[in-house]
Amino acid sequence: MQNLTIALPKGRLLTPVVSLLEQIGLNCSCVLEASRELILDNNEGYRFLLVKPIDLPTYVERRVADIGIIGKDVLLEQEKELYELADLKIGHCRMVLAGPAVKESPPWVNLKCVATSYPVITDKFFRCRGKQVEVIKLHGSVELAPHFLLADAIVDLVETGATLKANNLVEWELVTNSTARLVANRSSYHFKGNEISRLLSSLKEVRHGKDKNIF
Ligand code: PRP
Repeated sequence: MQNLTIALPKGRLLTPVVSLLEQIGLNCSCVLEASRELILDNNEGYRFLLVKPIDLPTYVERRVADIGIIGKDVLLEQEKELYELADLKIGHCRMVLAGPAVKESPPWVNLKCVATSYPVITDKFFRCRGKQVEVIKLHGSVELAPHFLLADAIVDLVETGATLKANNLVEWELVTNSTARLVANRSSYHFKGNEISRLLSSLKEVRHGKDKNIF
């Protein structure tokens, strides 16, 4: 019997997410063993869908998946009609305004153009500061933009800081912090409330040992 369909984010969040799900006793071996399959059944009532992080909220909002796990950064950018059930306190990273090392940073006066994969968040960030900038949307490798003067700065995620450093950029200002969130489709939350609550409680129990304020 199929109980829940769970959308999982491909990429850097996948390993910590699968590890957390395994800790609550959810058999994810089908995900770990997958090569190119994107639909994976664990034969214990759970189906996993491997999707690009940027598309995950759409899969959950449209009820292709009942629940999903995704970074807060993506949720802030997209503002989909979902229930955000828990901060799972994994996948910590921060979104920053970054650019070349300069004497006064951020150099507000000279900031005319910013490249990012997060145009909505970036636009809000600058509007809150009363600054008008042109926002150029890129889909990755954003750090290239200042190098070729496509933009004066970038707004992007930083985890270790290695990518900024390798591309001669420095953090100028924090935009927001991000961690992985458990999200649910609104109908699934009502019609599959028991299954979703059980999963939520298990996550609480596992995480309580590490962080009592998880939910
Ligand atoms: C993300 C982000 C940065 C990098 C930061 O990119 O956009 O480029 O990771 O990580 P670090 O601080 O640990 O170096 P990702 O690898 O997801 O690929 P992308 O450039 O295609 O977005």
